[in-house]
Amino acid sequence: MDTEQIRAEDRRYVLHSWSVQGTADNLPIARADGCYFWDTDGNRYLDFSAQLVAVNTGHGRRQIIEAMTRQAEAVAYAAPTHAVEVRGTLARMVVERTPGPLHKVFFTLGGAEANENAIKLARLVTGRHKILSRYNSYHGATYGAISLTGDERRPPVEPGIPGVVHFLDPFCYRCPFGHTYPGCGMQCVDHLRQIIEYENPATVAAVIVEPIVGGNGVQVPPPEYLPALRRICDDYGILLICDEVMTGWGRTGAWFASERMGVVPDMITMAKGITSGYVPLGAVAVSERIANHFDERMLWLGLTYSGHPVACAAGIATIQVYEEEGLVARAREMEGPLLAGLRALGARHEIVGDVRGMGLFAAVDLVADRDARTPLHKARPQAIAALKRGLKQRGVYVYVRHNNLIISPPLTITEDQIGEAVEAIGGALGEAAAAR
Ligand SMILES: Cc1ncc(COP(=O)(O)O)c(C=O)c1O
Repeated sequence: MDTEQIRAEDRRYVLHSWSVQGTADNLPIARADGCYFWDTDGNRYLDFSAQLVAVNTGHGRRQIIEAMTRQAEAVAYAAPTHAVEVRGTLARMVVERTPGPLHKVFFTLGGAEANENAIKLARLVTGRHKILSRYNSYHGATYGAISLTGDERRPPVEPGIPGVVHFLDPFCYRCPFGHTYPGCGMQCVDHLRQIIEYENPATVAAVIVEPIVGGNGVQVPPPEYLPALRRICDDYGILLICDEVMTGWGRTGAWFASERMGVVPDMITMAKGITSGYVPLGAVAVSERIANHFDERMLWLGLTYSGHPVACAAGIATIQVYEEEGLVARAREMEGPLLAGLRALGARHEIVGDVRGMGLFAAVDLVADRDARTPLHKARPQAIAALKRGLKQRGVYVYVRHNNLIISPPLTITEDQIGEAVEAIGGALGEAAAAR
């Protein structure tokens, strides 16, 4: 098919996520290799977001593709009741890389399902029903996960599941309490304690947070925040679930962000980077206490494709790539050059309000007014449209959500490629600033 035929069929038959279908402009992709992908007209793009914060090892890895092929030839699918070598091996490899370490793994198909199952586990283990999550969060689009989600993707599909209570975020750049860090006394932490007291701690099963809010703008909390949440949860016998769907698998310069923040959660949910996005797979890693709870009780969870052998084979090969190439350490080494490059853009462009990040995970937060910190898309949506056009023309792909550029390249990215992308972003920012 030529580009127009691909576009026509796509427009005619595919419903695309999170878009007004009539206005969606979906780029037809032909192939990908390493940190680059090509459209069907042969234009090359530097993938500065690893698609959707997923392709952590880069595109076109023979090792992962061959592992999936070998597994498909041996046994492509086996019911979840069976023991399959790749399923057990991947579960062990996941456990060995979690902080703590955690103890056992329940496999799912993606991030939303990982969160669904984590909250079911929390309810089963504690006998309590409420789940606390934050307003700036995204936890997935299935009903439980979207109920946990705090952002604007939840209200249009409400009512969601009962028992979810939201609380405010430790987002220092636009502090919901109007404070400035440090010296704020961390009101965000006291606020959570208050909410728990109001809700009656004896009814609260779990608190679920993204250690770093991802899609809503890579909001890195102060270092003492997650340890403080851990202490609060322990005080009340509440389980702490870290949603590491974006932050897991090396993204922040550690296997998991919770590890980098010095916290052992009761559960970690993950997806995306576990297979580097090559096939769908998610997981919930659980503590020994949670795992042991089900030794003599029914585990009321189940999925036809839990631990799909082909996905598990991809997961094993992906982890081997991370390890053989030292990609987790590399993400930490590249944090400095990436943030320095992005911050230099702030010196040249008034519309850059804030740059924040950890490892190879960063956001450029664009504003219409630096003092008021007004998100750019609210005041000048045409500027965001110009930014996207400018990036495309310069052959750089960045996941732009509202007023944030979400930067999350493959962990293999070089300093030269970072330079190339930052340069392109600079050019596109100039056009965005000038857009009327
Ligand atoms: C933090 C977080 N949790 C959960 C999800 C949902 O994952 P999935 O789309 O695989 O269901 C996402 C997706 O981007 C996410 O960023």
